[in-house]
Amino acid sequence: MGLFIRRLIDNINHILNNNRYKNRNNLMNINNLTVSFDTADGEIKAVDNVSFSLEDGEILALVGESGCGKTVLCKSLMGLLPENALVTAHDMVNENLQVNRRFAMVFQNPFTALDPTMRIGKQIEEAIRIKNKKFNRVQVKTRVCELLEQVGIDNPKERSRLYPHELSGGMRQRVVIAIALAADPQILLADEPTTALDVKTQAQILSLLKQLNRETGMSMIFVSHDLYVVSQIADRVVVMKDGRIVENGSVQQIFETSKSEYTKKLLEAARIIHGDKSNNEDYKA
Ligand SMILES: Nc1ncnc2c1ncn2[C@@H]1O[C@H](COP(=O)(O)OP(=O)(O)O)[C@@H](O)[C@H]1O
Ligand SMILES: [Mg+2]
Repeated sequence: MGLFIRRLIDNINHILNNNRYKNRNNLMNINNLTVSFDTADGEIKAVDNVSFSLEDGEILALVGESGCGKTVLCKSLMGLLPENALVTAHDMVNENLQVNRRFAMVFQNPFTALDPTMRIGKQIEEAIRIKNKKFNRVQVKTRVCELLEQVGIDNPKERSRLYPHELSGGMRQRVVIAIALAADPQILLADEPTTALDVKTQAQILSLLKQLNRETGMSMIFVSHDLYVVSQIADRVVVMKDGRIVENGSVQQIFETSKSEYTKKLLEAARIIHGDKSNNEDYKA
């Protein structure tokens, strides 16, 4: 067995040993979800008859190369698709999802996700008020500080007065995660949340997401094109290609016994990018 695969499996075993949600309930089933776009060049099918389930407290990774439909799938769950999108046969059974406490999304680019003209505290406040309409000023401010601390930002009172440009990429992504947490979601959709960040910051954000999953028990759909990153965080992996699911299995199955040529290709791509560096401590989430 190659050294790279060995390291991936070590990552996975670490996750399995830390898995505190062994007897999980089914939280949501997506059945036969198809999303097409009506464009000037005709219909584009971005998500093609996709079915999968998500369990309570689980981190499910959605993996595939650029353009395979990962973001469109997440946006369809959030109800964030543009007008030219057509969602068909979308049968989402979610008997265990609570009303008003469903999804929040963290996007790929923390540099565009925040309003540059507004202090970060104010942006978090807005998200808190949407969820907690009856909170008074003091309650909102207290919640802002709690959320900033929860995402690992110290001195929250002073920091909440900063503007996005005064923060590093990693700090901005922490703020974006705080805004998502303000909605008190049952499921966090994290769409390539570390792709725009350097390797060290990437590991820190992965570690934060894992910690939030453990502390709050919220489920996560973690989107990535990178199987190495996925090996550090996911319980289960859904591999997508051209809008379809090609494989769905535990991380261990995907890495150790995958039969799909496409998955092997993704694994090889991850090895080329990370192979010689993944034993570096900076890399570890
Ligand atoms: N608003 C849109 N109109 C037309 N096509 C779109 C739109 N948004 C996404 N697509 C297409 O859907 C496919 C999947 O895109 P996306 O979900 O963004 O891929 P990724 O897996 O990289 O996140 C791509 O072919 C993309 O061009
Ligand atoms: Mg995307």
